[in-house]
Amino acid sequence: MKTYLVTGGAGFIGANFVHFMLNKYSDINIINLDKLTYAGNLENLKDIEANKNYSFVQGDICDKKLVEKLFAENEIDYVVNFAAESHVDRSIKEPEIFVKTNVLGTVNLLNIAKNAWQVEGGFKQGKKFMQVSTDEVYGSLGKTGYFLETTPLDPHSPYSASKTGSDLMVKAYFDTYKMPVNTTRCSNNYGPYQFPEKLIPLLINNCLNHKNLPVYGDGMNIRDWLYVEDHCKAIDMVINGGRIGQVYNIGGHNERTNMQIVKTIINYLNENVDKEVTEKLITYVEDRLGHDKRYGIDPTKIKDELGWYPETTFEVGIKKTIKWNLDNKQWMDNITTGDYQNYYKNMYKK
Ligand code: NAD
Ligand code: TYD
Repeated sequence: MKTYLVTGGAGFIGANFVHFMLNKYSDINIINLDKLTYAGNLENLKDIEANKNYSFVQGDICDKKLVEKLFAENEIDYVVNFAAESHVDRSIKEPEIFVKTNVLGTVNLLNIAKNAWQVEGGFKQGKKFMQVSTDEVYGSLGKTGYFLETTPLDPHSPYSASKTGSDLMVKAYFDTYKMPVNTTRCSNNYGPYQFPEKLIPLLINNCLNHKNLPVYGDGMNIRDWLYVEDHCKAIDMVINGGRIGQVYNIGGHNERTNMQIVKTIINYLNENVDKEVTEKLITYVEDRLGHDKRYGIDPTKIKDELGWYPETTFEVGIKKTIKWNLDNKQWMDNITTGDYQNYYKNMYKK
């Protein structure tokens, strides 16, 4: 019976991962440590609340006493660190919290895991610290080429710089102490439970409410989209089979310009749900500061070593995501009555 300490499990990818793992394995324990910031939502986990293999602890990954207590009271085998401040636009406005959670929080987890797992001459067998990172640490691509694990780190936003800081601390714990770690760097995720500050759920929600669709700059920036379940599958594979100390890129050659995403969502909703959803809703707004032009992952390493590939094409994944949002309108309404509304009032002032 392996015990996973999942941090940030009430957020978008973390909640999907908790669901994925509890569906796949009946012989694991998951402890979900989440601070419940604006992005954490226990509604994402309502259906598994009563699962005997799952427990929730509200708390901060920076809290030394709390994390030490969790390690003292449980034989934790894996830390899967999703907890982070994750939105680039917020990081441009308020960088400090990104450094605190993403860098200092990760170091706190690393340090306490190291102390719990270290034995004379090394580490207890079967332990692993899994850092969930992002392709944004590599910076921005031109028209050609892809991010490899060997691509130099060149982050631009306070978000990606803070994720780079945490990645390098994970690397330092491997290089210095030989701590069993892996880092995954994934491209843009989409799917159920994504907070509507990110492009895809924001567009779906705004379309359904006949609100403007804010497109930054010329709409020609490119992201490499991955359905969240494929990401969860990759993390599970890296935990089980990733070579210690290695970094694995996760992405599936699904590059789209932002404008292609906007039009795909408009067309689907127009044809299937609401004729009033049209391109008239598109509104060009001021570009994001330091806006990375293009992300594109080369997934050869994880494919060759672990046999991972993305099962869900973008065409299928985007329909599933829209459908999930249509079927879970109450979830979206509950979120959009709080912090998100105030945040976007300020955003639109630009
Ligand atoms: P999210 O913002 O939806 O969720 C983050 C979760 O972390 C929330 O539940 C929040 O309450 C929690 N949290 C924040 N600060 C915390 C703290 N100090 N202590 C404990 N919990 C805290 O983020 P997401 O999109 O699910 O991303 C999860 C991870 O994956 C992040 O590390 C992110 O950098 C990485 N990632 C995300 C994407 C993407 O497209 N969303 C792509 C690649 C990598
Ligand atoms: P986002 O979902 O914030 O992810 P990231 O910045 O981490 O890639 O943004 C995805 C792309 O969409 C990015 O190029 C910025 C752009 N974007 C818009 O054009 N309008 C929006 O309202 C948002 C949130 C993003």
